Amino acid sequence: MRDVAIVGAGMTPFGELWESSLRQMFADAALEALGSAGVDHLDALYVGNMSGGQFVGQEHLGPMMAEQIGMSGVPAMRVESACASGGMALRLAYLEVASGQSDLVLAAGVEKMTDGADVTAVLATAADQETEVYHGITFPGLYAMMARAHMEERGTTLEDMAWVSVKNHRHGALNPKAQYRREITVDDVLGSAPVAEPLRLLNCSPVSDGAAAVLVVPLDRAREFTDRPVQVLGSGAATAPMALADRADVTRLEAVRLSAERAYQAAGIRPSDIDVAEVHDCFSIAEILCIEAMGLTDGCNPVQAAESGYTALGGTRPVNTSGGLKSKGHPVGATGVAQAIEIYEQLRGEAGDRQVEGADIGVTQNMGGSGASSVVHVFRRG
Ligand code: COA
Repeated sequence: MRDVAIVGAGMTPFGELWESSLRQMFADAALEALGSAGVDHLDALYVGNMSGGQFVGQEHLGPMMAEQIGMSGVPAMRVESACASGGMALRLAYLEVASGQSDLVLAAGVEKMTDGADVTAVLATAADQETEVYHGITFPGLYAMMARAHMEERGTTLEDMAWVSVKNHRHGALNPKAQYRREITVDDVLGSAPVAEPLRLLNCSPVSDGAAAVLVVPLDRAREFTDRPVQVLGSGAATAPMALADRADVTRLEAVRLSAERAYQAAGIRPSDIDVAEVHDCFSIAEILCIEAMGLTDGCNPVQAAESGYTALGGTRPVNTSGGLKSKGHPVGATGVAQAIEIYEQLRGEAGDRQVEGADIGVTQNMGGSGASSVVHVFRRG
């Protein structure tokens, strides 16, 4: 296998982008990524997208998106793994370049969620229809059950979960591309509208539009395109049972643990080597579960990591410096690629007010459904 690097990135702002269509958002992100690397051709294109068919009635995104950027003819396909679609697109691009098959591969993600579809029903297609959705459960409902179990078994409080949202909004307020650029307080979270007990509105990631793209190349060619490449040191993916009822323990995310273990092993690192991480905080309980499964908090209790400042900017191991899904937004198919862009910018020293000084090793973790799929990437500066 060859060593692999990212040499270009592009991303739309996340939010309610009324004036931009699915194809336009993709083209904006993709052309920015190609332009940043000075590239006008590709060997392949992967487009992460959870549900273009149901959100805006558009499937068959591979050829459509290749044409949008003037690349008709290249092999191109949509990649779907629910909210982990973007991370899985990046994984396929990484594997294609590492294998020696291709040199210039664009990994992109795009989702248009605000055009009138029944978002809650579309998102629920990523849960188990027969054993969960037919009985009325929604995604906030699934994570609410995980939160409730965590509260019962581990003593986690509403305040502990609120602190994750407070921290991520603090970070997101510094991110010009974030959907919600405002700081919030614990009282704001606790006083926000109930969504699925015990989760409040400010415990939830929002409904978002957006696109993101990165250019993946062999490391030995990286300096043709940029003087500050970011190496992809390793990629790991895993699955777990779809339905919560089929899991041995709903307070633990086994696919996240396994995908992280595989990525760390491929990269030859330990969790203690990680300087900065983007993890899948679709609901605030998810960040607590993910950092625990990934071993990101050493001696610190993951439940208190946000409140204590351990995972905040300036802390021991900053998590979700972009604002995370909570504040930056969560256009589901785009999220995994946007996470990689935050780490790319951190490792290039380009994260502005969100910069983690001296960041050398970063990770991303992107999750599908209530944790049935997960993909982790490890990156290193230069
Ligand atoms: N965070 C912060 N503010 C939010 C928000 C969020 N998650 N969601 C909505 N808001 C704000 C809106 O901007 C709006 O503010 P305004 O009144 O000042 O304009 C207000 O809250 C009400 O927004 P609205 O769109 O009416 O909210 P809603 O009740 O329709 O939706 C949720 C709120 C939480 C139900 C919705 O965002 C949701 O379903 N989130 C989860 C998405 C999800 O499951 N993703 C997949 C994860 S696996």
